[in-house]
Amino acid sequence: MAPVEIKKDLYWVGAVDWEIRDFHGYSTKKGTTYNAFLAMDEKVTLFDTVKKPFRSDLLHNLRRVTDPGRIDYLVINHVEMDHSGCLPELVETVRPEKIFCSAMGKKAMVEHFHREDWPYEVVKTGDVIRLGKRSVQFLETRMLHWPDSMFSYIPEDRLLISSDAFGQHWATSERFDDEVESHELFMHAAKYYGNILLLYSALVQKLLQTVQGMGISLDMIAPDHGLIWRSQPQKILEAYDRWSRQDTKRKALVIYDTMWHSTETMAKAILDGLVQEGVSCQLLDLQGTHRSDVMTEALDAKALIFGSATLNNGMLPRMADMLSYMKGLRPVNRIGAAFGSYGWSGEAVKQINNVLEEAKFRMIDPGISVRFVPTHEDLRKCVELGRRIGRAIREEA
Ligand code: FEO
Repeated sequence: MAPVEIKKDLYWVGAVDWEIRDFHGYSTKKGTTYNAFLAMDEKVTLFDTVKKPFRSDLLHNLRRVTDPGRIDYLVINHVEMDHSGCLPELVETVRPEKIFCSAMGKKAMVEHFHREDWPYEVVKTGDVIRLGKRSVQFLETRMLHWPDSMFSYIPEDRLLISSDAFGQHWATSERFDDEVESHELFMHAAKYYGNILLLYSALVQKLLQTVQGMGISLDMIAPDHGLIWRSQPQKILEAYDRWSRQDTKRKALVIYDTMWHSTETMAKAILDGLVQEGVSCQLLDLQGTHRSDVMTEALDAKALIFGSATLNNGMLPRMADMLSYMKGLRPVNRIGAAFGSYGWSGEAVKQINNVLEEAKFRMIDPGISVRFVPTHEDLRKCVELGRRIGRAIREEA
């Protein structure tokens, strides 16, 4: 994809990855982009780079704007390989005068590329450098989502280059938020938040307050993945505020895996009970629903109810995977419950309960285990469990 001038003399020069389908466990069904930005000024400056296999795309784009040898500064907001993988070759080509990064960024680059001799220039929150007619103000954003992460703010352009924050994994030919369908854009942004940043929500809240306290006036937010927010940057800031507060709705997810449809039948009965209480709910079968899509829906769901048959004295493997992934992302203030069928031992429900208790879910029932195939009475109990959860959701959300 050709460079795009996003501000006067400031270009998107990144790469579009149409083919990636897995981003360490996150299903990227529509690909992603690796955004990099080139400021043409007295000091020609490249903000961030791309994943190693896309180094030719980056170099090609740079050459379409200027001779890469003219680049004076690199700003490395984040060292994860999707933004830094091509650095060794790029540094050889560009021979930059300075590489600006956080202290943790320098450490991470040395640990990734084993080059102590690069011209690192460590910056911290509040430091400002001049490029010529514009300046860059740095803001460290530790653990959002790596220790090295930082933002670069260009006040003259009212542009925030936000690294991973506010991104979306979505490969498009368009570069700006107002050029794509808004509902899909926010779905991708929510999926990205729910699968990458959810566990850092308390830090996101602090960061949003810091940005507000700095009194910076934003015209555009340019993340390192996906579309650039130029039409309503405030909208994505408001969404991050909502998501990081972990505000939930009167919504429940019934997430299950089944062997011979007994656990599935129980799931549907629980769903019936939830519907009777006026709760919006979704039935998510892990045989057809990816863990990262469950987390997208979990972002605003008050109750997460998990069901698994028992296999080999434990829960089914897809459920173990789901719970491990979800627990790591740390949703808070949720209601939980477990259910499942079994043949003779029946450990799955207890094991699910243990995970949900460790994750500090509010458990409102010990869960329902049914031997082999549920009877009408068993299903009545499942409906009643759904209704109890529904009433608890209505009281809390
Ligand atoms: Fe897009 Fe944390 O890298």
